[in-house]
Amino acid sequence: MLAVGALLTATVALAQDPDLARRQAEAAAEIAARAEEETVLAEGEGRSETFAYCTACHNTALIRRSAFTRDRWDDLMDWMVEKHGMNPIDGEFRTTIVDYLAQHYGPRARGPRGGNPFLD
Ligand code: HEC
Repeated sequence: MLAVGALLTATVALAQDPDLARRQAEAAAEIAARAEEETVLAEGEGRSETFAYCTACHNTALIRRSAFTRDRWDDLMDWMVEKHGMNPIDGEFRTTIVDYLAQHYGPRARGPRGGNPFLD
C-alpha cells in the first residue's frame, strides 16, 4: 500500500514538477528497499531468534509498539499460529522468544508507568 500511495503521489506530482516526481520516486524506492536490521530490536538474549522468526510476515513495528505481559506474549504465540498460520513454536525456542519479548517489550519496560498511562 505504501508503494501504491507513493506511486500515486509521484504521478500527481509529475504533472506539476518533474524533478519533484523523480525525487519522490527515488525516495519510495529507497523505503521499499530498506530492510530492517536486527538492531531495531532491544539488545538482549533471544533477539536474534525473535528477529529471525518474527519478521517472516511483518516487520518489527508490531512488536516494538506492543507492551505485553509474559502471559500475553505467550498467548500471542498461539494466536499467531491459529489465526495467521505461523509455524508453531515450542520448547526452549519458545521460552527464549517469549522471555525476550516479555523482558524487553513488557508493560514495565518503557518507563515508570509501563508506557501505558491507563494502567496504573
Ligand atoms: C505466519 C506469519 C506471521 C509470523 C511468522 C508472525 N506473525 Fe505476528 N502477525 C501476523 C499477522 C497476519 C498479524 C496481524 C497483522 C495486522 O493485524 O495488521 C500479526 C500481528 C502481530 C502483532 C500485533 C498483535 C496485536 O494485537 O496488536 C504482534 C505483537 C505480533 N504479530 C508479534 C509477532 C511475534 C512476536 C512473532 C514471532 C514469534 C510474530 N508476530 C510472527 C503474522 C505473523
